[in-house]
Amino acid sequence: MTDTQTAPYSGYFKRDVPAEDPELTHTGPGTACGEYLRRYWQPVAMSNEVSDLPVAIRILGEDLVLFRDKAGTLGLLHRHCAHRGASLEFGIIMDCGIKCCYHGWHFDVDGRLIDAPSEPLGSPVRDKVVQGAYPLHEVNGLVFAYMGPPDKKPDFPIYDTMNIEGTESKTFSLSMPANWLQVYENTQDPIHVIHLHALSSGVQFGAASGVEQLIDYRTTPLGMMNVQTRRVGDHLWTRTTDSIFPNGNQTGAIWEEAEGKKIFQRVSMLRWMVPIDNTHTLTIGWRYFSKELDPRGQDDPSLVGKETIDFIGQTAGRPYEEQQRQPGDYEVQVSQRPIAVHALEHRVTSDRGVSKLRGLLRDRVRAHDKTGEAPMPVLNEDSIVSTYCQDTVYPVAPVEDDEQLMKRFGGRVADTVLESDSLTAAKRIESIDKVCTKEFG
Ligand code: FES
Ligand SMILES: [Fe+2]
Repeated sequence: MTDTQTAPYSGYFKRDVPAEDPELTHTGPGTACGEYLRRYWQPVAMSNEVSDLPVAIRILGEDLVLFRDKAGTLGLLHRHCAHRGASLEFGIIMDCGIKCCYHGWHFDVDGRLIDAPSEPLGSPVRDKVVQGAYPLHEVNGLVFAYMGPPDKKPDFPIYDTMNIEGTESKTFSLSMPANWLQVYENTQDPIHVIHLHALSSGVQFGAASGVEQLIDYRTTPLGMMNVQTRRVGDHLWTRTTDSIFPNGNQTGAIWEEAEGKKIFQRVSMLRWMVPIDNTHTLTIGWRYFSKELDPRGQDDPSLVGKETIDFIGQTAGRPYEEQQRQPGDYEVQVSQRPIAVHALEHRVTSDRGVSKLRGLLRDRVRAHDKTGEAPMPVLNEDSIVSTYCQDTVYPVAPVEDDEQLMKRFGGRVADTVLESDSLTAAKRIESIDKVCTKEFG
């Protein structure tokens, strides 16, 4: 008998669409993944979105309102007023806190009711009612919220790529009608760089990114990284791209051409894929600019901001024909369905990174669900968090078995990036340079 699933013209037998994988894709209050994500500081807006009016935002399926009171303190409150539910996005910003427009209830940034003006003096309501609120931390133009249990609030982590001398940063915020996981796992699917960003659409980033790469993966203390090694003329180029669990990611230079020696060049983006709800994702973070990252001057900071960034295929709004002729990350991620259905996939060798990322996340979600433990990053010699994304380019002449050489080079660079993580940046550069010179010079 013919197997209906593998026979040609078998569409009739493949019409059912099974449910998504809720363990990793559902992030609302009380879900296993949602509670795990809430244990970490999450970026929720750019500082420049918060002006003299409250901002309605939705994060992890919760409707919230973000504002800055006249004293300059940021507040993030549940959107619906504790009195009778009017939205605080229509509230009046006060010297201290915000006042609901409907009956004037006045809440502080921590949610405490300062005043209920039409209630008799001495009414117990002022002691009994508190509006839901979350703590915030503002850094370099981004506003982060902690939405987990108050007694578990971690210190805000300072990553080693957040303040690099000679590097300018600009914030960006891009939304997408797709589940957070398919946006996040794209960053551990490096083979798509060759297909989507080179063969399918024409080379969309630096020309060297269109050179086929050897790919490997490593678990890191923060999550995982992929290791991509390319032969570009007389140089070998190894890029490590890290996932900072649960939902952070860093990316190397967009326009890297691997033309000359560089050791441990840091990142062009530090960003987070934050669930707005189960079918929408906010990709928000910093885009970095420096001469080293962009020697040919192809970056355009003026295009970086709200729903806009300076490289193709990341946002809605392109003409449909252009989307079809030159699809980018936005088109593929949105078109995987609002929540990609894992049960329908045929994952293969080149999806190892996606499978690894899901596996590691699943372990963490389950462990958190069972024990309440969520691993926090450790600090390096500089008392900050070491990360693992970098580019190293080194002059190494091609040999007969070049693939073997590339493999060895990529492996040694990746291992050294990992092993040097307790050290300062300068010492990490030194150790990678030493390995390159000693073993490949
Ligand atoms: S609904 Fe907000 S004060 Fe009445
Ligand atoms: Fe991509």
